[in-house]
Amino acid sequence: MSKFITFEGMDGAGKSTHLAWFADQLRQRGLDVVVTREPGGTPLGEQLREMLLNQPMSMGTEALLMFASRMEHIDQVIKPALQAGKWVISDRFSDASFAYQGAGRGMDWDKLARLEQWVHADLQPDLTLFFDVPVEVARERLSNNVSLDRFEQEQSDFFERVRGGYHQRVQQNPQRYAVIDAAQSMAKVKRQLEEIVSSI
Ligand code: TYD
Repeated sequence: MSKFITFEGMDGAGKSTHLAWFADQLRQRGLDVVVTREPGGTPLGEQLREMLLNQPMSMGTEALLMFASRMEHIDQVIKPALQAGKWVISDRFSDASFAYQGAGRGMDWDKLARLEQWVHADLQPDLTLFFDVPVEVARERLSNNVSLDRFEQEQSDFFERVRGGYHQRVQQNPQRYAVIDAAQSMAKVKRQLEEIVSSI
């Protein structure tokens, strides 16, 4: 049976590095896996991503464009793949909107919940891997990047709120999440992922 898995965590948590490896592990077990990302994942979504990551905009516009990208992504990529029996792994999904636009920017949580309800009332990830890391560790990792996007340029207090937003989402629905201690070494994080793969 097909499954929808999402990867979440703040910038610098290392989720993207581990996502490719995780997808490979599932493929080696004979699963047909589609890897995708948000914002993005479709031609229109990638154009929206470009704007979202680079252009200043109001908090409301940011939230609406995130969900616009998501609606397109669900219709064009996620649902068709799941219906064809494939597994879908998305680098971020709606938890990021609650963490970044909600907790980070201060957008009303209920408004986001209404957008979530509108855009995907009938779809939630079967499993979300949340890469949790203290803000200082994430920032240290980001400091190696040559160019930082609009989100990555935010200050520590923004990321503290983002992390808190993720924790709130996990608390509201703990059975959907696997919380990964991403402050550990790559090898140790991989071991945590191996356990998840074998439970799948
Ligand atoms: P990210 O997925 O971390 O890509 P990269 O690893 O290439 O930097 O970047 C996407 C950024 O978009 C990230 O900073 C979080 C932000 N974002 C939101 O603010 N809200 C959302 O709903 C989503 C999906 C992403």
